[in-house]
Amino acid sequence: MAGTLQLLADNETEMKFLSKNHCLVEIKNVATRFLLLPVEEKAELCRLRIIVGNETVQAMNVRLAVGQIDYFVPVDLARYAGKHVLVDVQAAGDVHKNGSWKDHVCWSHIRLSDAFDTVNREKWRPIYHHTPAYGWMNDPNGLFYKDGLYHLYYQWNPYGSQWENMHWGHSVSRDLVHWENKGMTLAPDALGTIFSGCAVVDHENTAGFGKGAVVAFYTSAGESQMQSMAYSKDNGASFVKYDGNPVVTADVPDFRDPHVFWHRETARWVMLLAAGQEMRIYSSSNLKDWQYESAFGEGWGNHDGVWECPDLIKLPVRGTNKEKWMLICNINPGGPFGGNATQYFIGQFDGHRFTCEDQPDETKWMDYGKDHYAAITFDNAPDGRHILMAWMSNWQYANLVPTLQYRSANAVPCDIDLFEHAGKTYVGRTPAKELLALRGRRLLKRSAAARRTFDAEKGAYELLVNIKPSAAGQTRLSLQNEKGERVVLTYDVAAATLSVDRTLSGETDFSDAFKAVTTAPVRGQISGLRIFVDKSSVEVFDADGRLSLTHLVFPTQPYNTLLLQNGRGNEADVEVYELR
Ligand code: FRU
Repeated sequence: MAGTLQLLADNETEMKFLSKNHCLVEIKNVATRFLLLPVEEKAELCRLRIIVGNETVQAMNVRLAVGQIDYFVPVDLARYAGKHVLVDVQAAGDVHKNGSWKDHVCWSHIRLSDAFDTVNREKWRPIYHHTPAYGWMNDPNGLFYKDGLYHLYYQWNPYGSQWENMHWGHSVSRDLVHWENKGMTLAPDALGTIFSGCAVVDHENTAGFGKGAVVAFYTSAGESQMQSMAYSKDNGASFVKYDGNPVVTADVPDFRDPHVFWHRETARWVMLLAAGQEMRIYSSSNLKDWQYESAFGEGWGNHDGVWECPDLIKLPVRGTNKEKWMLICNINPGGPFGGNATQYFIGQFDGHRFTCEDQPDETKWMDYGKDHYAAITFDNAPDGRHILMAWMSNWQYANLVPTLQYRSANAVPCDIDLFEHAGKTYVGRTPAKELLALRGRRLLKRSAAARRTFDAEKGAYELLVNIKPSAAGQTRLSLQNEKGERVVLTYDVAAATLSVDRTLSGETDFSDAFKAVTTAPVRGQISGLRIFVDKSSVEVFDADGRLSLTHLVFPTQPYNTLLLQNGRGNEADVEVYELR
């Protein structure tokens, strides 16, 4: 049967409609790799249980198609080859409201197949940003580097392109910009679905899983949220869940997103956890037994949303020999432009307690666009680097953006450090040097002309802007296409602001929250900009890595025209390179 499609209505398979919300799909002898399920995004969730030998071996929630099929998702049957499998389907709600359940299109289109087609079908799929091959993705998880490879796990729904069924997917890269998808790494279990977390390389075998074992921490999201661990003896290719899970629990409903690192000064592991409106700090000598140390957060920074995805990292301060600690707190909602954003705190950490040097009522934002969230750093990064990845979307509309095969990308990787301005310390983000290697043809020669058109057919390029600012100057740059869809950047020297307007950027109607103008404070002056454009994003960095604005955009054609306007003494020119 290999290689052939087999519709379910034959003698190998049978569909048994039971009471009104219940159906059993029987596969008498699994002979193909996949069961393909038809999905309709606006349909209600059905609860599917895969039953082998009278035991539930897998369960997932899937929006089985009612009237139309948006796409298929695969259930991998490889491990049940030759076995009798039941798929128990239970629907919530009134499945008969639009006619008989039996008439829903899913039943005539469910099929068995040896292949699942992951060839890209999306015109907005980025060229050089990380995306899942299919399905929904949110936060980057378990970022680590080892033996020449960067590992990126991610919050993944393999059974639909909207948030549900949290797994960890896995991708690897040698250069942070070309990613290879490896598929599923951690799947839900009796403790819950697999929420965000981290991974560390245990060089000294403190946990007893072996020297150099990779140890992952994640939140088991069941009735309550608890922290679990899993270890890998094959450099992150596969993980074994620890049989002593959970390793950290608390009497708090929002209790998640463990971030673990080795604290050299006290020679112990430290774990940060988001716990309601604070970040809790724990320590351990063996990664298995954790002691509570302290909490940070009450009375500090922004509290207009849930605190999530912490990180704590020691960073050099540019141009000095100082080092300071930065505590990252992703927050949703509460961001400066609605929805989620990344706030951070600067201070000291002694292995037990984080002490913030900012003012309690001050909020520092890492990025001033709408689509920068769940930012965390890589463990064990080479050459003393501090590399940060962020999810490039916003919970306000992430489930609604106009792609179907997959949803969400990660922002470009950045190296982070600290800089001082007017007596305060801020985080700086510099696009990773690996992005330079993506530069191909020069699409536009450096020029200060007011209007130019370039070959933007591939939809992925970098704009390099030089600016000579004058005290009251203004530079406006509009990146647009023939339909007049545009993204407009305005640098106002006197106001010390850089703003990005995407209100007319293309498709925006899927959510009222998408149309937006966002503004970043300029600390010092801007001498240039690097603007990374990919099929569905525009990320603006200043040339000195002091500020960034990360935005999704959905132009119906690539922006291929540049309008440059300088006012009140500013001078600027622009060149454009293709990115491949
Ligand atoms: C942040 C977040 C995390 C959680 C995960 C669930 O985007 O809400 O706090 O672990 O997503 O997918």
